[in-house]
Amino acid sequence: MNPENPSIMQALRFHQFGKPIEVLRLEDLALPPLKEGEVRLKMLAAPVNPADLNLIEGTYGVKPPLPSVPGIEGCGEVVGSRSPDFQPGDRAIILRRVGTWATHVQAGAGHLFKLPPGIDPIQAAMLKVNPATAWRLLTGFNMPEKGSWIAQNAANSAVGRCVIGLAKQLGVRTINLVRRQELFAELLALGADVVALDEDAAVEAHKEKAPSLAFNCVGGESALRLMNLLAPGGNHITFGAMARRPLTVPNGLLIFKNLNLRGLWITKWIESAPREEIDEIYGRLARSGLKMPVDRLVPLADYSEAIKALAAPGRNGKVLLVP
Ligand SMILES: NC(=O)c1ccc[n+]([C@@H]2O[C@H](COP(=O)([O-])OP(=O)(O)OC[C@H]3O[C@@H](n4cnc5c(N)ncnc54)[C@H](OP(=O)(O)O)[C@@H]3O)[C@@H](O)[C@H]2O)c1
Repeated sequence: MNPENPSIMQALRFHQFGKPIEVLRLEDLALPPLKEGEVRLKMLAAPVNPADLNLIEGTYGVKPPLPSVPGIEGCGEVVGSRSPDFQPGDRAIILRRVGTWATHVQAGAGHLFKLPPGIDPIQAAMLKVNPATAWRLLTGFNMPEKGSWIAQNAANSAVGRCVIGLAKQLGVRTINLVRRQELFAELLALGADVVALDEDAAVEAHKEKAPSLAFNCVGGESALRLMNLLAPGGNHITFGAMARRPLTVPNGLLIFKNLNLRGLWITKWIESAPREEIDEIYGRLARSGLKMPVDRLVPLADYSEAIKALAAPGRNGKVLLVP
């Protein structure tokens, strides 16, 4: 196969919803010819995100048509272009859900963001979802004032680490709840102002800081702790469900504290924001210096190792698929 002009690509595909290790297959697929306005990327890296596994299980908010290639984000190098905006050798991230767990991806030029020169492709592969989510959490709901506090759970997640880094740049202070004490020093070194175990004691210790915003990545009792931490009238934004437990909201928190319970799905913002805003925010995030830890890079063919690594206790960083 000529890598610059391939006719066959390899992709991980699933033909039915189920456990990722059981339903995924590495398949050879014919690459369709490039249409006017389309760009072909040779993939350099694509993360395995929790949402990818939910999508394959059929438990995500939307279900793709089957068979389907998973992968909600990734970075590639242009190897073919029928768009005047992209030349071979350019590097880009893919902003639409086109299935990045593959050797090649084809997309309309309007669905790509061209990377500024000198950006690490591994970090870039993780740019679309988590840094943008952190940015929207911090700036999309009553922007907190400089010096004021926000709170979050699962603070060691990729989103949580981006929140810490971006909040620091914005002059906003962060209360960070985690489930493992050994993370304290690392998150403080990253710029966290307060790190505490995700337990009721943290609410008593820090509620006088009166955060105006709280970011819920977990659900269940942890989500309730964030409600108790929030100042009256504060915004409680749910964007993840790591504990797979629903929110239980005591009536009094709505009646007497007037909390606003909101949600965020970054896909909706990417699809609906004006192109200039998308370019401005991704340009800013690409140059922000955010560095997300990488647990390991796994060849596409060894996908079961990547999926097992995602669930392994103590994993510290993203698992990415590489060609
Ligand atoms: N709504 C959106 O648009 C959007 C965008 C981005 C991400 N998300 C969601 O946000 C979540 C985090 O994504 P990510 O890529 O940042 O994840 P990640 O880097 O893989 O981190 C997962 C985090 O969840 C914690 N965790 C795992 N199981 C848990 C449990 N049972 N109870 C409490 N905490 C648990 C982990 O704690 P340890 O650090 O202790 O291991 C870790 O901090 C996912 O649910 C993802 O789908 C949503």
